[in-house]
Amino acid sequence: MRFDSDFLLIGSGIGGLTFALQVADHGTVSIITKKSDSESNTNYAQGGIAAVESLDDSFSSHIEDTLISGAGLCKREVVEQVVKDGPACIQQLMRWGVHFSKKDEDADKHLALGREGGHSHDRIVHASDRTGAEVENALLEQIKNHPNIRIFPNHAAVELILTQNPTSSARHCIGAYILDAETREVHVFAAKITLLATGGCGHIYLHTTNPEIATGDGIAMAYRAGAVVANLEFMQFHPTTLYHPEAKSFLISEAVRGFGAILRTCSGAAFMKKYHPLGELAPRDIVARAIDREMKLSGDPYVLLDLTHLDTDKVKSRFPYIFQRCLDYYIDVTKDPIPVVPAAHYMCGGVKTSLDGRSSIPGLYATGEVACTGLHGANRLASNSLLEALVISRRAAKSSVAELGETAAIPDSIAPWEKPGRLDSEEWILISHDRVEIQSLMWDYVGIVRSNHRLARANRRMKLILSEIDDFYRRSTMGEEIVELRNLALVAQLIVKSAIMRKESRGLHYTTDYPERDDVKWKKDTLLRRPRSIRRIA
Ligand code: FAD
Ligand code: SIN
Repeated sequence: MRFDSDFLLIGSGIGGLTFALQVADHGTVSIITKKSDSESNTNYAQGGIAAVESLDDSFSSHIEDTLISGAGLCKREVVEQVVKDGPACIQQLMRWGVHFSKKDEDADKHLALGREGGHSHDRIVHASDRTGAEVENALLEQIKNHPNIRIFPNHAAVELILTQNPTSSARHCIGAYILDAETREVHVFAAKITLLATGGCGHIYLHTTNPEIATGDGIAMAYRAGAVVANLEFMQFHPTTLYHPEAKSFLISEAVRGFGAILRTCSGAAFMKKYHPLGELAPRDIVARAIDREMKLSGDPYVLLDLTHLDTDKVKSRFPYIFQRCLDYYIDVTKDPIPVVPAAHYMCGGVKTSLDGRSSIPGLYATGEVACTGLHGANRLASNSLLEALVISRRAAKSSVAELGETAAIPDSIAPWEKPGRLDSEEWILISHDRVEIQSLMWDYVGIVRSNHRLARANRRMKLILSEIDDFYRRSTMGEEIVELRNLALVAQLIVKSAIMRKESRGLHYTTDYPERDDVKWKKDTLLRRPRSIRRIA
């Protein structure tokens, strides 16, 4: 089957949904999403959205904090624009029905502002400790009421469709092949503008804060189509996820440290001041590496996050979700320190885009975690990612509405999906095995601390795994599992390649072979692009 619309949006997190709401009055919109409509990283965001909202804060301070965290690789013009657009985006979210926490719920109209690592002011706009769910639900409510928007849950994008522009040598993106997870059929979704809003790739690693949708599909599809991808070595590890066999890396928000919690070894010693003058509120890469080091020194499998000295009622009312989830595992955070470990959290690199979300392929935009705009540099400042998605989607919406009028009609003839594989279920065990093998390998060799030896080993293993998966993909029938595995393997290999290329330590990329930052040779992005001869064209 074939579905045509003006805008094809892949992903229903904050990036995709806010873009949809800003283009829908100008054309028809199809939103494709892999699972249920709300399942996304956005839905699990806790801390909030960084924005300058108080009189004693300033744009220049937020800009400075972002640049410091980004360790020399942020694009200043992007940082300035994103920070300055922040307050308007917060207002827009409130008009769409998002309720943020207020300083005083009854009497005060002012937003309550939290503090997180690397920020020199209180500037985290939040909805209790479930900001993401509040935002996601409000946006979905708006989407459902718009007559021009159709959402397709349980549909997964498999490959972008490119066509040759008759008047130039440029290839244009004209939509995507989409797998219906129920029928296992692949349909053509054609569009004048395609937006990748597929989020992150935490599931490349064994331990992650991300839900299962985060398999790097957007980066993999864009790379296969020939888009430039950038800075994939900068995977951010969140310092504090709950250490518990059943908790599946449940996040303990950085806002908890912003509220006064202290990191301690299992023997009770506070250690962060040894590593950075800001202690618990140092930038995230420094806190994650400090925890990793303390765990290696002591041999303990976790460290402790201690809130027991804080006011019990205030802790319960500021962090009701975290309090309850920990209690489900018999940890009363007001009485017991929380065992925590770092876990893969956020991909700072991605599909390289302009400030307006344009990728290097005409007709293809990217926003949110899948994109690399230059805001985060080598290490994202806490709560800057929801902000980035809001600002870039707003600008991309404007730019693509203008482009819509100039874009040629979508071609009538687009080749249907063809993949002759016939192999089915008996070999599905290979998929789960390969997935865990990649995740373990990435965790062990391409984690918080890297070395030439580990990266070379990961590279050799990944080449072999990738060629086996490619062969299996060609022979097998279509299914979401094999689509995800193929993407996850490709993005893992691209991360390894990027990490090998960067011969210095900067931000989130730390290697024992080059422990110093080298601004002379390496103050630049790591760019990758697939050779032209092997890209797919419709
Ligand atoms: P997502 O919200 O991840 O949405 C991606 C969408 O794409 C999903 O709908 C998914 O199903 C869909 N998708 C993926 N692949 C395909 C495919 N092949 N076909 C169809 N659909 C596909 N950031 C902050 O700024 N502040 C915070 O407090 C914060 N807390 C966080 C807490 C947690 C636990 C996590 C995991 C992240 C947190 N982050 C936070 C990061 C932030 O939530 C994400 O970076 C942001 O939500 C990404 O939004 P997005 O729209 O780009 O992607
Ligand atoms: C958190 O709440 O700690 C997550 C914030 C973020 O990832 O920006």
